[in-house]
Amino acid sequence: MAYETIIVEIEEGIATITLNRPAVLNALNDKVFNELGEAALSLGADNSVRVVIITGGDKVFAAGADISQMANSTAVDVATREKVSHRAFQLLENLPKPVIAAISGYALGGGCELTLVADVRIAADNAQFGLPEIKLGILPGAGGTQRLPRLIGTGRAKELIFSGDFIKADEALRVGLVNKVVSADQLAAETRKLAKRFASRGAVALRLAKASVNEGLRMDLEAGLEYEHKCFSLLFATEDQKEGMKAFLEKRPAQFQGK
Ligand code: HXC
Repeated sequence: MAYETIIVEIEEGIATITLNRPAVLNALNDKVFNELGEAALSLGADNSVRVVIITGGDKVFAAGADISQMANSTAVDVATREKVSHRAFQLLENLPKPVIAAISGYALGGGCELTLVADVRIAADNAQFGLPEIKLGILPGAGGTQRLPRLIGTGRAKELIFSGDFIKADEALRVGLVNKVVSADQLAAETRKLAKRFASRGAVALRLAKASVNEGLRMDLEAGLEYEHKCFSLLFATEDQKEGMKAFLEKRPAQFQGK
């Protein structure tokens, strides 16, 4: 499918979504949100795609929602637009396969919030993160007030949200905002290496493991444990479970078929 504001490439079962509005540092407008949502639906339904990478390329991840689009908005406009960003981000967050964000340069505002819907974040050493919305007289309205505290805790999240300050990659690693920091010229290769590792695992087990974590976070512990047990039990109906355990006992690598 042809997109205008993103590029989607699929190679060896790994799909890469690249934000593509370089003139405005990949600022996210409604078109981008809609295309991200469409890409999520299409990659989610494509069984040949095992893992999805989201990136902004080597210079910038994304400098936030498009301020020129928001500047003269009315509250009604924004209520509709926010649904657009929430819809896209929820579709990405709930993709039934691993999603890795590869972040170079600025990941600000909606750009930072986009990284939060990925399962794993890998940052280049030149990455900078921040939620500067407060400096524009608004708040992080693409999930930042909800997902960031869940990821790094309320105290650290509130400091970033209230100050609008940027933090560098090493600080992002220290507070648990990213999983790993690599040198900028290694970002694509390191991300691909991890994507390949995920892709070598059983697709059904990955799907249920992700659902178990994501759904569990919306439940109390008892309900989450019950949900986990249902997912766990279901995997014993797959050929991959038989293969995985047989391969272990035969001391050879497992060959998963995703069924
Ligand atoms: C629209 C943007 C933009 C944005 C940058 N540009 N960020 N346009 N929306 N968020 C444009 C600039 O206007 C400029 O266009 C070009 O990109 C290059 O940016 P510069 O500012 O010249 O670059 P630089 O001096 O390197 O500064 C980089 C920067 C700065 C620090 C990232 O651009 C910046 O502060 N951007 C805004 C960051 C921000 O506040 N993000 C939060 C947005 S609100 P021209 O035409 O002049 O070349 C948000 C809400 C999310 O995200 C929730 C909503 C659903």
